[in-house]
Amino acid sequence: MKIAMVGSGYVGLVSGACFADFGHDVVCIDKDAGKIDLLHKGVMPIYEPGLAELVAANVKAGRLSFSTDLASAIEDAQAIFIAVGTPSRRGDGHADLSYVRAVAQELGENLKTPAVIVTKSTVPVGTGDEVERIIGDTGTDVKFAVVSNPEFLREGAAIGDFKRPDRIVIGAEDEWARGVMTEVYRPLFLNKAPILFTSRRSSELIKYAANAFLATKIMFINEMADLCEKVGGDVQDVARGIGLDNRIGSKFLHAGPGYGGSCFPKDTLALLKTAEDFGSPVRLVEAVVKANDSRKRAMGRKVIDALGGEARGKRVALLGLTFKPNTDDMRDAPSIAIVQTLLDAGAEVVGYDPEGMDAAAAIMPDVEMATSTYAAIEGADAVVLVTEWDAFRAIDFNRVKRIVKAPVIVDLRNVYDPGELRAAGFEYSSVGRP
Ligand code: UDX
Repeated sequence: MKIAMVGSGYVGLVSGACFADFGHDVVCIDKDAGKIDLLHKGVMPIYEPGLAELVAANVKAGRLSFSTDLASAIEDAQAIFIAVGTPSRRGDGHADLSYVRAVAQELGENLKTPAVIVTKSTVPVGTGDEVERIIGDTGTDVKFAVVSNPEFLREGAAIGDFKRPDRIVIGAEDEWARGVMTEVYRPLFLNKAPILFTSRRSSELIKYAANAFLATKIMFINEMADLCEKVGGDVQDVARGIGLDNRIGSKFLHAGPGYGGSCFPKDTLALLKTAEDFGSPVRLVEAVVKANDSRKRAMGRKVIDALGGEARGKRVALLGLTFKPNTDDMRDAPSIAIVQTLLDAGAEVVGYDPEGMDAAAAIMPDVEMATSTYAAIEGADAVVLVTEWDAFRAIDFNRVKRIVKAPVIVDLRNVYDPGELRAAGFEYSSVGRP
């Protein structure tokens, strides 16, 4: 089957490479000639474990190619995916659909062979109808259908998530489209992955509802962590104690500095806007968004408390800057608000991240970027673990003790053992643990 993927960003590239790996003939399209040039040279525009190898193998096998020319690339494709960005619109938090609309227009103008157009971009409810209208309005007489097929890929684990999904959601309004999508995902059907066919609108809402629910779960345990600190509980025990109840489930109950990334912050806001537009408020999600925003700054204040209440002139080392490990993505990373709070309080901030240094340097010009974990730690008045990269798990604390100015550790991911660190002479604090 021939598949065209319009948009070769994170979602488009991972999905395109995985579809090719299933044996489909895939072309990934992007307007950005620089990006397509890099891909032709085998250089990945993003960091994602395993992606470079997967792309190389499928290019070599002749199943995966790249192009800037949409018109010729979509010819004969039975399925054309739209996987372009839908960033938060400045000012109102609505998802910005200008890229999706532009692609729909271009598809309508260039469609020569019947195709199912699949929206993979995260789009508000009703966007499928709009895409259908835009394509129809171009006056095309080629047969097409518009389908919603949201992605549930976690950065850093995207290939595994694509190939072994918890479920695949397909929102289609007609039999032909359902048949084409069945062919697209046949390898996963064969693997017995649960596939849910719904209406297009339900499918669009499922994506937002899933992300908002997960964000709520995280924020719930974060507030339990704060409460644990006051009442003298241990949030990890609380998470385990509630998570063993199958109705709750143990995942996404790790307390931390608040959620960030390319999906949760943007999608929760967009859901609020949809709810507002349709006059059906989702108050729970409103509270989650507010609580998460203030939490990130509160984590900066937690560090200042660990410094004894005064940050002026103190040197603070941040380990991990990306919003989570195994990605170079800095979008809405908690580190951004933490850095701002510390700088505002007069601290000097030094950071180190295994993959996110370039992206971080671009948005945090006042943070000194160190060349290694220990270079960051040297001379610090406090060391703060912000992102739980594996590389920070086996830190040599004897060495840390020798090179810091003051033995203060703030562990915002509950990675280290409080007993061990205190026995080693550190002033150690974490999130929601005694
Ligand atoms: C998320 C969804 O998981 C994915 O299905 C969707 O398609 C895109 O958004 P991603 O943003 O890559 O994926 O990362 P995820 O692993 O879900 O983490 C999101 C944020 O929540 C991170 O900032 C992470 O640190 C935080 N988090 C996650 C917690 O603080 N605690 C947890 O228990 C889990």
